[in-house]
Amino acid sequence: MSRISRLLVVPFAVLALAGGVVATAAAAPKQPSEPFFPRSGNRGYDVKHYDVNLGYQPRSGMLTARDVVEARATTGLRKFSLDLDGLKVTSVSVDGEAAEYSRGRGKVKIVPATRITKGEAFTVELRYQGTPRKVIDPDGSTEGWYRTKDGAVAVGEPVGTAAWLACNNAPRDKASFDIEIAVPAGVKAVSNGRLVSRHRVGGRVRWSWSEPKPMATYLALVDIGNGKLVQGHVGKLPTWTLVDPQLAKASRAAIGSLPEIIRWESHIYGPYPFAAAGSVVDVAKLEYALETQTRPIYAFAPDRTTVVHETAHQWFGDSVSLERWPNIWLNEGLATWTQWYYAEQHGGRSAQQVFAELYRRPASATGFWDPPSGHPGQAKNLFAVSTYVRGAMTLQALRTKIGTHDLLRILRTWATERRYGHGDIEDFIALANRVSGEHLRGFFHRWLFERGKP
Ligand code: ARG
Ligand code: ZN
Repeated sequence: MSRISRLLVVPFAVLALAGGVVATAAAAPKQPSEPFFPRSGNRGYDVKHYDVNLGYQPRSGMLTARDVVEARATTGLRKFSLDLDGLKVTSVSVDGEAAEYSRGRGKVKIVPATRITKGEAFTVELRYQGTPRKVIDPDGSTEGWYRTKDGAVAVGEPVGTAAWLACNNAPRDKASFDIEIAVPAGVKAVSNGRLVSRHRVGGRVRWSWSEPKPMATYLALVDIGNGKLVQGHVGKLPTWTLVDPQLAKASRAAIGSLPEIIRWESHIYGPYPFAAAGSVVDVAKLEYALETQTRPIYAFAPDRTTVVHETAHQWFGDSVSLERWPNIWLNEGLATWTQWYYAEQHGGRSAQQVFAELYRRPASATGFWDPPSGHPGQAKNLFAVSTYVRGAMTLQALRTKIGTHDLLRILRTWATERRYGHGDIEDFIALANRVSGEHLRGFFHRWLFERGKP
C-alpha cells in the first residue's frame, strides 16, 4: 500500500517506483452499472439533500447522528435501503411516519408504512449512534472514520462515507449537504462548503456547514480537532482553513499558495465551481490527500504540487463527477496532468520533459503501464500508479497530437458543459473529437484501454 500511497503524497516520486499491479485486458467497455462496488448504493431513488446533525465525543469516540435524507423515487418502492457500516440505528421514519427497519451487511433496510410511488419525493429521518470505524479499502488504504489524538477525520473515497453517514453511497447520486457537528468547546469541527453558524450550547459548540452544490458522498468531509480555524478569501470566494498545530509550520507555504492556485486553475479551466474553498491539514496515518469538495484534506503537510492536484479535482471529480468508479482516469489523470502543466508554467520542468522521461520506462516495467488507465479492472487498482501517471501521460500525448490550445479547450469545455454533473470516458473522447475535429478514438484506445506501453 505505501508504494502507491506515496505517489499520492509526492506524485513525482513515481519515477522511483515499481509496483506489482496486474490487470485484466480489454477493449473499451461501456458498463451500465457499478462493477467495483456492486453492494454500494441503491438505484430505486435519487437523493436531493442530506441534512446531517452529528455529535462527537473525542474522548470516547462516540458519535450520535440524526440524518435527514430528501430523495425522489425513481421506481415504485415498497422497501429500499441506505448504506451504513456498523453503528446502531435507533429510529427510522419516512415522511414523518415510523418505518420498519432492519440491518443487512453495510445496509439499513427500510420498509415505509406506505408504499412510495415512482417519481414521488420522500424524506427519511434516521437516528443512529455508536463508535464509527475505519474502513480498509480494496487497495489496503484506510478510510472511513479515523480517530486522531485530538478528534477524528472522516474520508470516504471510494466507499468510506458509510462509516458515519447513512447514504446512497455511489458517485452517480450527488446531493447538496448541510452538516452540523457538535463537539466539546475548544475543539474545532470542519466540513464542506461555508460555515453558516457556530453556536455554543452548554459545554459544546455546534458547527453548521453547508454545501449547496451537488456533491458525491465520497467527497463529504468531517474533521474534528485542535487548531485555529482561519477565515480568508480569494477575491470574493470565502475560505476556511484548519491546520493541526503540529503541521502548521511545515504546511504554511503550500497551504498559503491556495489563492494563487485557485486563480491559475480558474484561468485555464473556467470559474472555480463552488462558493467556498479552503484546506484541512490533520495528523492521521492515511498517507494520502483527498479532494473533499470545496476543502481538500491533507493527512500530512502537503507540498505545493499536491495542493495543485487536489484543487484541480474541484473541477475534475467534484464538479464533474464519475458515474462509475472504473472511470477514475477522469479524476486522477486530469488532476495529475494539471500538476505537470502548473510546474511548466511556474518555472519548473515542462510537462513534455516529464513525459519523455517517463516514456523511457521499458515495456517490461511491471506496475507502471498496467492496468491501462481507462480500465483499472479491479477495485484494488483504482489508485494504481498507472491511473495517475499513464493517465497524465495520455493527456500530454494528446497535447502533442492536437496542440496545447485544443487540449485546454477540451478540458475547459468538459468542466463547463458538465459542471455539477457527470461524465464518462466515452463522453470525454466524443468531446475531444468535437473540439479537435480529429478522429481520436484509436489514440484513446491505445492510451487508455490497451495493456502495455502505448
Ligand atoms: N483521490 C485521492 C487523490 O487524489 C486519493 C484517494 C486514495 N484513496 C484510496 N482509498 N486509496 O489524491
Ligand atoms: Zn487525485
